[in-house]
Amino acid sequence: MTESVDTRVDLGGIALRNPVLTASGTFGYGTEFAPFMDLAALGGFVAKSLTLEPRSGNPPPRIAETPSGMLNAISIENIGVEAFLGERLPELPADVVVIASCFGTDPGNYAELAERLSASPRVAGIEINASCPHVKSGGIEFGQDPRLLGELVERVRAVTPKPLLVKLSPNVTRIDDMARVCEASGADAICLINAVQAMEVDVESRRPVLSNVLGGLSGPAIRPIALRMVWQAAQAVSIPICGVGGIITPEDAVKFMLCGATAVQVGTANYLNPAVGREVAEGIAAYAARHGFPRVADLTGALRLPGAP
Ligand SMILES: Cc1cc2nc3c(=O)[nH]c(=O)nc-3n(C[C@H](O)[C@H](O)[C@H](O)COP(=O)(O)O)c2cc1C
Repeated sequence: MTESVDTRVDLGGIALRNPVLTASGTFGYGTEFAPFMDLAALGGFVAKSLTLEPRSGNPPPRIAETPSGMLNAISIENIGVEAFLGERLPELPADVVVIASCFGTDPGNYAELAERLSASPRVAGIEINASCPHVKSGGIEFGQDPRLLGELVERVRAVTPKPLLVKLSPNVTRIDDMARVCEASGADAICLINAVQAMEVDVESRRPVLSNVLGGLSGPAIRPIALRMVWQAAQAVSIPICGVGGIITPEDAVKFMLCGATAVQVGTANYLNPAVGREVAEGIAAYAARHGFPRVADLTGALRLPGAP
C-alpha cells in the first residue's frame, strides 16, 4: 500500500524523493554515516555549517544530556569550505541530495561562501545558518534582527542561483516577522527551528555544565516550541517551510507537515539511531497510505482546526 504513495516534495526548487532531510551539525558531511545507511534513502541531508576557513569549536565540556534533550555548544567546528568541496563532496554517491550550510560573521563572508559552494553541481541548495545560539559573533545576531537578516539574505541571494534556504532562530519574539523578511528578501524556503538558547548548572561544583556557559537545547524537549513556530510562520509566508526540532518518530514529522511544513529535518535523533531519517521517511509514507493521502505533499497544512469537519 505504501508503494502507491507519491513521496516526492519540492522544497523551494529542490526536488526531494521524500520529505526527510537530516539537520546540519548532526550528520557530519554525510560521509561519516554512509557505512551505516543508504544515504539515498533520505530526501537529502544538510551538511555541517561551513566557514571560509577551518574552525575549531569550544573546549569541552560542550555537550550535556538534559530531560528529553541535549545541550550543546560545539560552536561551528568545521573543516572549511575548501576541504568540503575538494575532499568530502566527491566521496558522496551522485544520487544523494546535498544541501550546504553557510555560517559567517558578516554578510560578505556568508556571500563568498555561498558563491563558492554554488559553483559545485553537487550542491543542491544553500542553507544560511542565521541562528547558531552559542557563537560569540555571527549567526544569531542576524537571526534576531529583522533588518540585518534582510540584508544578509539579499546579499547571499545576489550571488547564488541555487535554491536558498534560511534557517531561523527560535530565540526571537516574533517568528512571523522573521519569516516575512526572508520571503521578501528572496529566500526560496525557510527552515525552523535551530536550537533554543539554554543553560544548565552543576550544583555540587556551582559551575555551568558547559564551558561556554550558554548552549543550544535540542531534541524532543523543544518539539512543541518548534511546532508552534512552524505553524505561525506558515500563516505568514507562502514560501515552503522545513520543520526542525525534536523529531524522533514518523508521527512527529507528520505533525510538522500538518502544521504547514513541506519537508522536515531530523537532528539530535541521529545520535540515538543513525538510520532514523530513513525510518521517519518510510513511516510518513505509511501514515499517508493509512489515512488515504495519495501524495505525502498533501499532508502539508492538512491540520484540522477546532470547529472544522
Ligand atoms: C551537536 C549539534 C550541532 C549542531 N550544529 C549545527 C550547525 O552547524 N548548523 C546549524 O544550522 N544547526 C546546527 N545544529 C542545530 C540542528 O541542526 C537543529 O536545528 C536542532 O538541533 C533542532 O533539531 P533537533 O531537535 O532534531 O536536533 C546542531 C545541533 C546539535 C545537537
